[in-house]
Amino acid sequence: MTGTAPQGHNLTLELRPLSHALGAEVVGVDLAADLESAVIDAIRTAWNEHHILLFRGQRLGPDALVAFAKRFGDLDRHDATPHYRLESHPEILQITNKQIGGKPSETRNTGRNWHSDYSYTGHPAAASALYCAEKPPVGGDTMFCNMARAYELLSDKMKRIVDDLDAVYDIGLTAGIGERDPEKVAELHRINPPIAHPAVRVHPDSGKRALYVSERVSRFHGMTPDESRPLIDFLCQFATRPENVYRHQWRPDDLVMWDNRTTMHVALADFDPTQTRHMLRATLLGEASGFVVDA
Ligand SMILES: [Fe+2]
Repeated sequence: MTGTAPQGHNLTLELRPLSHALGAEVVGVDLAADLESAVIDAIRTAWNEHHILLFRGQRLGPDALVAFAKRFGDLDRHDATPHYRLESHPEILQITNKQIGGKPSETRNTGRNWHSDYSYTGHPAAASALYCAEKPPVGGDTMFCNMARAYELLSDKMKRIVDDLDAVYDIGLTAGIGERDPEKVAELHRINPPIAHPAVRVHPDSGKRALYVSERVSRFHGMTPDESRPLIDFLCQFATRPENVYRHQWRPDDLVMWDNRTTMHVALADFDPTQTRHMLRATLLGEASGFVVDA
């Protein structure tokens, strides 16, 4: 498919399920093409149903990635993590283990615990589109879980409990943040104070309810950390059971787009760190959410 669609017909994409719980591969769409609105609409429909979409064999530089991602909404300029965006393209976050300025990149261990992107900000990311430019021959996988399905599988009683909670997100719980330059980390804390978001989100397009609790949650608002911990642990463990997970084994030129409102993900350190892993992310700006709380 090169971006044309029959006039007056609903377009049907060729989809291959990636796992039982979530994810589909979209076959035969060239994302660097000037895609018709009908194609974008069909992608959005598939995305709302499957939560993550995979497109193999794409050739996307920063310009093309930005142009494609923009078709789905406004892009975040990554002001929450200003040190890691591309200077030439603030809409692109670089996640890489290449040397930058003669030093190991601070993003080399990004995403090592289960999370939803930018959950520690006042505009949690609606969605992310991650492009694999280079990867080690083995590993560097990303796992995704379905938070709408996790919510759906809770008992009615537990649903009512989590419906009533706000989860406090703390950037300090980002895995590996302790390895980064202390001055930059202090700035990240200043930009991103602890913030409470509803523990259940309602998707604005699909109306689906989804659990919104992750390993970056320190407590529930109005509860102590000790009171909160068993429930945070239970919900994270429940959501990330293997049968609720898709594990993506990247190939160069893969583009995976995921909905941060209905999924979590974790980037695995299952590769030789002396081999290059170089990824580019465009982030779709989410709605304003949450309220800042005391640390
Ligand atoms: Fe992430």
